Amino acid sequence: MANYADFQTGLYFAGLAGEVPAYPLTFAGLETAAREKLEHRLFDYVAGGAGDEHTQRGNVAAFERWGILPRMLSGAAERDLTVSLFGRTWPAPVFLAPIGVLGVMTDDERGDLAVAAASAASGVPMVVSTLVQDPMEDVAATLGDTPGFFQLYTPNDRELAESFVRRAEAAGFAGIVVTLDTWSLGYRPRDLQHATFPQLRGYCLANYFSDPVFRSRLAAPPEEDPGAATVQWALTFGNPALTWDDLMWLRGLTELPLLLKGICHPADVRRARDAGVDGIYCSNHGGRQAASAPAVDLLPAVVDAAEGLPVLFDSGVRSGVDVVKALALGATAVGIGRPYAYGAVLGGTAGVEFVLSCLLAEADLTMGLNGYASIAELDREVLVRVEI
Ligand SMILES: Cc1cc2nc3c(=O)[nH]c(=O)nc-3n(C[C@H](O)[C@H](O)[C@H](O)COP(=O)(O)O)c2cc1C
Repeated sequence: MANYADFQTGLYFAGLAGEVPAYPLTFAGLETAAREKLEHRLFDYVAGGAGDEHTQRGNVAAFERWGILPRMLSGAAERDLTVSLFGRTWPAPVFLAPIGVLGVMTDDERGDLAVAAASAASGVPMVVSTLVQDPMEDVAATLGDTPGFFQLYTPNDRELAESFVRRAEAAGFAGIVVTLDTWSLGYRPRDLQHATFPQLRGYCLANYFSDPVFRSRLAAPPEEDPGAATVQWALTFGNPALTWDDLMWLRGLTELPLLLKGICHPADVRRARDAGVDGIYCSNHGGRQAASAPAVDLLPAVVDAAEGLPVLFDSGVRSGVDVVKALALGATAVGIGRPYAYGAVLGGTAGVEFVLSCLLAEADLTMGLNGYASIAELDREVLVRVEI
């Protein structure tokens, strides 16, 4: 059986033929290269976060405060990273977190399709944002056999929300992820300084502009009056009035697996369970929405309250080592965010595939060299607190 770690052997052998990797290996390297390539305000939109940005830095620092306990002679030469989720077997417990501006991050401004192609090639599932440059149907078609999830930003127009869900079902998505933490935009000084927000300039609104319900709300179609359509989007996007009472309505919309993204409190986990959701997605949106405690520090209590319900996690994952730590803290699957977005900036599909290969190789090798051959062996006992 091949191990993901074999990817590094390939890099060394390519080096014997004079070839060096096309993209940076580290998160810092990816971010620096993306900063050099991207328009300044778009880079800041991706790299920046809420307020003083302590939350996003805290997300990363929190991982550093955990260390892995190595075990020797445990026969971990071959690792099994597969995981069963929502009726499918995933090759690894890793997925691509929804990123609502991918569409304009690649040279050809078809970034959602580029990432979907990387998902198809790698088998790493993609959570496709509501905010895409190509309609969800086209993104789903590009995913091939790899399961994709549609991430819903619940608009304040119920018929539009229902239309999005129906379209996601018809397009073949494997589940719906409802993001709860963005009913209003976080306070983001970098974007405010540029006085810019991509969607307000009409970018990444293809799901809205192609939607029959959304179009029925317009005096003129978006092709004729994109400005008015964009204003309508701004008026419709968020729903501050959404509460737990609306969850029954959301649950009733679909029989697809339903997950709630942005859950960080055990009491909220219990409410979600009571409402019959199929999975919890613990995340603080990478520190872009509310300033909060590091998400990974909140993960264990969320996992305990979930009582066996799958718990997806993201926020601050920068390496394969972080993936292993999040799994040990109880995540069923771990979401990659900014690292793959920078991969998309640098090389489109190939860039995302490279970033995923690096992360998976490092996760796999970290497990193996520490003596853990399967995900099942990773639990809180394999971690220790360390001083940094
Ligand atoms: C530029 C950008 C756009 C994002 N867009 C969305 C989105 O459309 N929907 C969503 O649920 N989360 C969105 N997120 C949050 C990610 O899904 C994820 O929670 C976050 O990136 C994790 O933090 P990390 O990238 O620092 O690890 C976005 C994140 C970034 C960086």
